[in-house]
Amino acid sequence: MAPVSSRQQKAKIYAVMNNKGGAGKTSTATNLAVAMALSGKQGLVIDSDQQANSTEVLAHGKKYYAQYGNTICNLYTDARFDIRKAIIPAMAGETEIPNLDFIPSDPSFEKVLEQALTRSHREKILHRHLQAVADEYDFIIIDCAPGLNLATGNAIYVADHVLVPVDAGSFSLSGLEVMLDFMDEINEEEFKNFSVFRNEYNASKKIMNNFIQDELMKHKRIQNRLLESRIRDDQTIVQSQVACLPLFYYAKSSLALNDYRKLARELETLSQSEVA
Ligand SMILES: Nc1ncnc2c1ncn2[C@@H]1O[C@H](COP(=O)(O)OP(=O)(O)OP(=O)(O)O)[C@@H](O)[C@H]1O
Ligand SMILES: [Mg+2]
Repeated sequence: MAPVSSRQQKAKIYAVMNNKGGAGKTSTATNLAVAMALSGKQGLVIDSDQQANSTEVLAHGKKYYAQYGNTICNLYTDARFDIRKAIIPAMAGETEIPNLDFIPSDPSFEKVLEQALTRSHREKILHRHLQAVADEYDFIIIDCAPGLNLATGNAIYVADHVLVPVDAGSFSLSGLEVMLDFMDEINEEEFKNFSVFRNEYNASKKIMNNFIQDELMKHKRIQNRLLESRIRDDQTIVQSQVACLPLFYYAKSSLALNDYRKLARELETLSQSEVA
């Protein structure tokens, strides 16, 4: 677990979100976090998805993590729960990943969220817990579930920045408007701190790339939010997820690692301009 630090600034909180399934939320959340942590920043990843895919990657296959210890479920069932009891070191196999902590999820999270629907101030549950540790980290990355559930609402409420991967399937574009409306609703005004980036980018698919670019540019709210960084279409990403390892620990020579590093740097620059 992160040592209590004398950091003055609270962590920058990113929510990786797309209501479409399979757009690249988990691969981005896990590999971006590792890239940031290996650059020397202290980070925390939160698995906010009952599918527990980032738990498989950062707790090496322990998808049903409630068997082993506390999870995000505890945060949503007990307002007085000490969040530190759910924080574990992020793992790559049997190796602790330097500078990176993790809050696992569990398939039972879906039921837990249903029960939390009647709570008052239910959009602030995660925010209230994170206040206790936010100044101990440089960054916090929340891996959201597909769809727009209560946990995603909580992620929007607490996030400083929402990061939206868009993959080659055009369905992810049609859902963006719905997600933007949800972000506005939770934020109670137009939500501005988000960015969109291309995932599974294949430079040789020019027609598809032009189509997606045009679609993104048609959206007034999105046209200035498109990042330069793109994550290439790379099978080592798929293989590393199947092996339940972050990409860096699965294939150190993978070219896609450069893309995640570049994304980390671009977000850092963006973060500085948002503060300025
Ligand atoms: N850049 C990429 N190149 C090739 N495959 C990718 C890439 N990014 C993600 N994938 C693969 O696509 C699938 C979906 O990715 P991922 O799990 O990151 O999406 P997700 O948005 O988290 O999905 P869900 O909505 O189910 O949570 C996975 O098999 C993953 O390995
Ligand atoms: Mg996922």
